[in-house]
Amino acid sequence: MSEEESRAANGPDWDRYSDEYQATHGDFLGDAGFVWGPEGLTEETARALGPIDGRRVLEIGSGAGQCSRWVTTQGGRGFGLDLSHRQLQHSRRIDEATGVRVPSVRGTATALPFADASFDVVFCAFGAMQFVAELDVALAEVARVLRRPGRFSFSITHPSRWVFPDDPGPAGLTASQPYWDRRAYVEVDPDTDQVTYVEHHRTLGDWVRVLAETGFVLSDLIEPEWPEGHDRVWGGWSRLRGQIMPGTALFIAELS
Ligand SMILES: C[S@@+](CC[C@H](N)C(=O)[O-])C[C@H]1O[C@@H](n2cnc3c(N)ncnc32)[C@H](O)[C@@H]1O
Repeated sequence: MSEEESRAANGPDWDRYSDEYQATHGDFLGDAGFVWGPEGLTEETARALGPIDGRRVLEIGSGAGQCSRWVTTQGGRGFGLDLSHRQLQHSRRIDEATGVRVPSVRGTATALPFADASFDVVFCAFGAMQFVAELDVALAEVARVLRRPGRFSFSITHPSRWVFPDDPGPAGLTASQPYWDRRAYVEVDPDTDQVTYVEHHRTLGDWVRVLAETGFVLSDLIEPEWPEGHDRVWGGWSRLRGQIMPGTALFIAELS
């Protein structure tokens, strides 16, 4: 799946899914809340962005801007970018409702419409990174818009999950697919044969390698544990699986 094919599928897919996504997960995310993934690890706890007070912070794959709104309430200047027009409409809706505004733009991670060295911190919370085919191009774009020293923190589905069916129940505990199979996960509309969703898989080694090749130094890789008393099911994430294996990988990468 090429970059163009991935984008052509995922933009409309997020437009279609956005209302349901916000209705289902909006309360958990919080209008101005920052969680890194379904385990509910907050940025207040993780401190994966480093200092944000007075800094310009870009979120790629910002959705309805919940995380960036939190950044702004903490003294940072949060900005959003997302591929989906409908997600950005939700972002505007919450801006109006809360009075905390996140200037946001429609665009793609592989062609950021910003000047060189215009942000102090860039992040993605399950945003675009696993949806792009050309990860090297996306990381080069992040490096271009970051000032030095700069930080890029991003969460993705933990690569080890690739080997299991995306099922929150017992079926999701039996490995069935090779970890090294990098062919994208693709959904196709059976009526039109059109590709409607694309997600790309890289091994942990692939992630480290492409970060290093772009000049980043990895300072941490956080694998949030499933918290006591947390019973929420989100897609393939559940207490059953979360107590056994990691579901989220949160990378912290530095540029000097
Ligand atoms: C799982 S949502 C996460 C959104 C938000 N961070 C949250 O926690 O709700 C993924 C977001 O990435 C966006 N996205 C997918 N591919 C993208 C791309 N190539 N460039 C920018 N955004 C993209 C989608 O439109 C969607 O809003």
